[in-house]
Amino acid sequence: MGFNDNIVEEIKSRCNIVDVIGRHVQLKKTGGNHKGLCPFHNEKTPSFVVSEDKQIFTCFGCGATGDVIEFTQRFNNMDFQGAIEKLADEYSIELKNTGFGTEGKKVQLYEVNREAAAFFYNSFTKEPNKAATYMRSRGLEPNILRKFGIGYADDQWQSLYELLKGKGYQDELLLSLGLVSSSNNRIFDKFRDRVIFPIINTRGKVVGFGGRAIGDGMPKYLNSHESAVFQKKNNLYGLNLTREDINREDCAILVEGYMDVISLYQHGVRNVSASLGTALTENQAAMLKRYTSNIVLAYDADEAGQTAALRGMEILYKAGCNVKVLDIPDGKDPDDFVRKNGREAFLELVRQATPFMDYKLRRLKKQVDLNTTEGSVAFLKKAALEMKNLSPVEAETYIKKIAAETGISEGAFRLEVFGSGYSAIPKEQGKAEARRKGKAGCTMLEANLIRLMLLKSSYIPQIEPYKNAFETAACYRIFEILRSLYKPDEEIDLKQLEDSLDEEAIAILKHTMDTIQFADRDNRVFEECIDHIRATTSMKREEELIQVLSILDDEKDSDKILELSKELMEIQKERYKGTRNEL
Ligand code: UTP
Ligand code: MN
Repeated sequence: MGFNDNIVEEIKSRCNIVDVIGRHVQLKKTGGNHKGLCPFHNEKTPSFVVSEDKQIFTCFGCGATGDVIEFTQRFNNMDFQGAIEKLADEYSIELKNTGFGTEGKKVQLYEVNREAAAFFYNSFTKEPNKAATYMRSRGLEPNILRKFGIGYADDQWQSLYELLKGKGYQDELLLSLGLVSSSNNRIFDKFRDRVIFPIINTRGKVVGFGGRAIGDGMPKYLNSHESAVFQKKNNLYGLNLTREDINREDCAILVEGYMDVISLYQHGVRNVSASLGTALTENQAAMLKRYTSNIVLAYDADEAGQTAALRGMEILYKAGCNVKVLDIPDGKDPDDFVRKNGREAFLELVRQATPFMDYKLRRLKKQVDLNTTEGSVAFLKKAALEMKNLSPVEAETYIKKIAAETGISEGAFRLEVFGSGYSAIPKEQGKAEARRKGKAGCTMLEANLIRLMLLKSSYIPQIEPYKNAFETAACYRIFEILRSLYKPDEEIDLKQLEDSLDEEAIAILKHTMDTIQFADRDNRVFEECIDHIRATTSMKREEELIQVLSILDDEKDSDKILELSKELMEIQKERYKGTRNEL
């Protein structure tokens, strides 16, 4: 079986526990033992004892105890496999063909899981047994149960353990996979008297198990804990069987439970998968996206289910999915519903699923009392923030809808949408700075631009497109003269310039020449000036757009509104990016 049974024993005998722990904890020899400060809890007087004879550690303060592998696991926060690898590495113990080590390790674990799954499956198909009877009573057919590899864990306490031990697998390995548990130095099967749902990844490997109590036992479901081959956040139940259907239908129906997946599948709704009772993760969203971006969430209608649904939706939405929520009447779950009402009725629910944004708005509304002014205002403010996550076309649709529903004018709501949320602070600062005039009666920006053109005439044509930045009349006059005097490859003759200017303009010119020096930084200053002008221009445009949009409120103007909203959202997005980069 390609697995060296003795590797664990070898590690234990070659890695002296006093040596291993001594690297991290200062130990003092006292009699036959070594003593130190416990690394697992805070203490001032040593109660952590390491026995060289027994090769174990014990803390009389916090109760921590174990062998060298357990110490390594706990101290480094790693699993059994990790500890074996680390110790083997530090003590130059060869792991080749041991079932551990980078490649061998997982192969070994998958193999053990596969053998366990086969064992459960065989018990299930050897009728009669309680699990098969139970699953039949829930209306599931043998061919579907076979397809999902459903199994039965009997009530004998050690049948799986005996089998796997007989094949030479070490206890530590079985414990690390969560197939067995230990208590009072006895090892027994973790899953007993349960229906077994093997969790199989999209590469066809058994990574873990779910076990349902037969009847009303507690807990209802028992799941494998996480292991080197099973991370909940990276798996979706059923996807190994259903991903092609999901791809073909270009839609995935996401449910909460094992039973929902199997039941829907039997009823011909095969583009289905389950997140296994936890909130959806980014990794799961990314996995689904390989097959479709259209996701329908069919979670339980209880508050916990709904909150999980909302978080899941946000994650899916951020991953770029088009998300809808399915509403099952009477608080039923998909399994209950499809068994009672059949495939067509369920598909009708899918067709009528609520789009993500409607769902969110509905929840927002439930949180306030729309009959009061405070309630309406609170709702509109929150709704306005949500609008920013939408594309301009979508935002426009919802703005109309919300305005109609709440009786507020579209313009007023649009003003709330575009005029809020994005921080107004940089805008105000920018405005103030650009318009503050210095001693000479012009702004810093104007002075800098003039100085640049006097330093190098090549700046004149470069500044020309931004001539609106000259807000002070005298500065604009200076610019006009400079442009008329400009010849490529010739610098400006200062005398000639002064001859063409009035007194006020000459004063500005003189002041500029006296006070501004760039050293070699003129190009930098030029770029900063241009950035500043662009930012100011877009701010002005933004204000203008917000004004116009709040006035337009007519069916006839809808094209115009859409066009201006698009422009506005672009500007705000740009600015938002800008502020984020600064942080
Ligand atoms: P449900 O309680 O809704 O169960 O939990 P279910 O799927 O409808 O199962 P049946 O119809 O009662 O047999 C939904 C999912 O949450 C996880 C399981 O993945 C389950 O399928 N769960 C639930 C647990 O992990 N442990 C539990 O004790 C309960
Ligand atoms: Mn159910």
